[in-house]
Parts: sequence; structure tokens; C-alpha cells
Amino acid sequence: MRPRVPVIAGNWKMYKSVAQTLDFFEKFKPLVARADHCEIVIAPPFPALAAAAEAARGTRIRIAAQNLHWGSEGAYTGEVSGPMLAAAGCSHVIIGHSERRQYFGETDQTVNRRLSAALAAGLIPLLCIGETLPEREAGQTESVLIRQLEGALAALTPAEFSPILVAYEPVWAIGTGRTATPEMAADAHRVIRDRVGRLFGRAASEKLRILYGGSVKPDNIKGLMARPEIDGALVGGASLDPLAMAAIVNF
Ligand code: PGA
Repeated sequence: MRPRVPVIAGNWKMYKSVAQTLDFFEKFKPLVARADHCEIVIAPPFPALAAAAEAARGTRIRIAAQNLHWGSEGAYTGEVSGPMLAAAGCSHVIIGHSERRQYFGETDQTVNRRLSAALAAGLIPLLCIGETLPEREAGQTESVLIRQLEGALAALTPAEFSPILVAYEPVWAIGTGRTATPEMAADAHRVIRDRVGRLFGRAASEKLRILYGGSVKPDNIKGLMARPEIDGALVGGASLDPLAMAAIVNF
């Protein structure tokens, strides 16, 4: 028996137009219609969110954005707020993805501000953390994960923390075809759960769903999900294909 309900989430990144989104949902929905063993979340790019939410209406599929601004409105050209995402039909939002940290100046401090804004808008944050290859090779994986967690979660109360999902995504495994072994992922997940326990108490840590992300595919999901420490997956490339994503959901 799994201790927690798994979450399988797809992060489309900067892929798919509205028409391609509708095509995906038409193929994907029947393939996961009987999947009640897990929660399913799909994160299209901003312009396709409303169409995705409409296409997913009446199903168990939930829609996530890939980022949000920390304000609710204002003169911030090019930004999108939590209340706007909620109004567009999102229930979740990805925060702190390594590509945002790597290319767009995301820091633990801005991650923290976005997390609070997401919670205030009633969105479920999917917080991404993970070490780079040089950090892993220098034996810093644990300290990096703890720094990112504490930075992101600074000043939250246990009640505020409770809806949050965490994704462990080793940067060296993202888009590289190089997955962490189930053992490596499980070790990192134990570090995360242990730290959450120290920050927010044992009940919060036992309830927390920790997803693994980084080259998750139909052929490696079973091995990952066989570990009780791993509560789901955040899937990039493979989530673009409705058949592959459905195979992952139906692990
Ligand atoms: P990938 O991406 O599955 O293409 O490695 C994972 C992610 O960035 O969430």
C-alpha cells in the first residue's frame, strides 16, 4: 500500500499552440479515463491554459501554469499573476523550475515570493528543487536541497505549507535522457522529507507528496514508482505525447 496518493504531472515547457493542446487532450482523455489511482496535472504554456482547462472540464485532469508573478496586478509588462491563472482555470502552478533558475535569474528568494503569491491565489504550488552535476560531484546534493527548500519555504506556517507539492529534479537529468536511479531519487526524497519534518513537523512531512523529475519515460516510471519514497513524477519531454504521457500515468 502506498502511503500517499501519487501525482503525475506533465510540464510542456515552451511547446504546443492552442490547436495542438486541443489535439493532445482529445487523444489523452480516453487513455486516462479510468486512472483513479493518481492525480493528473498538465502544465501547458500560458496562451493554451484556458483552452486546456476547458478541454479537461469534467475529467480528473488538473491544469497548471509554469510560473507566476508575485503581485496580483500592476505595471509589470510580460508578467502573469496568480489570480489571473486561477481565473483561467488553473489549480496548480510550477515554481522554481531549474530552467527558470538557470536562464531567467530565479533565486530562492523569488521562489519564496512566488510561492506565497500562489498560495494567496488558492493555487497549489509545485516547487522544483535539485542539484546540478558539479554540485552532485562535489558531494553537495544534500546541502543544495536543504538550502533551496529552506529558502523557498522561509516563513511559511505548517498550515500554509500543507497544500505544497515538491518535485526533486536533478538538473543533470532534465532533458538529457539520463535518469537518476530509483535509489538516488529515493535518497534525495528522504533528505527532503526529513527537512520538511524539521521545519513543519512530522504530520506535514508524512503527508507531503514528493515527485521525481528528470527524463521520466514510459519505460522507467515503474521502477521509480516502485519506491515508496517517490510519490509521483514531473515529466517534461515525454508529456508532449499523449500516448507516452498516458502510459506514464497508467504506470
Ligand atoms: P524531462 O524534463 O522529462 O524532459 O527531462 C523534466 C522537467 O524539466 O520537469
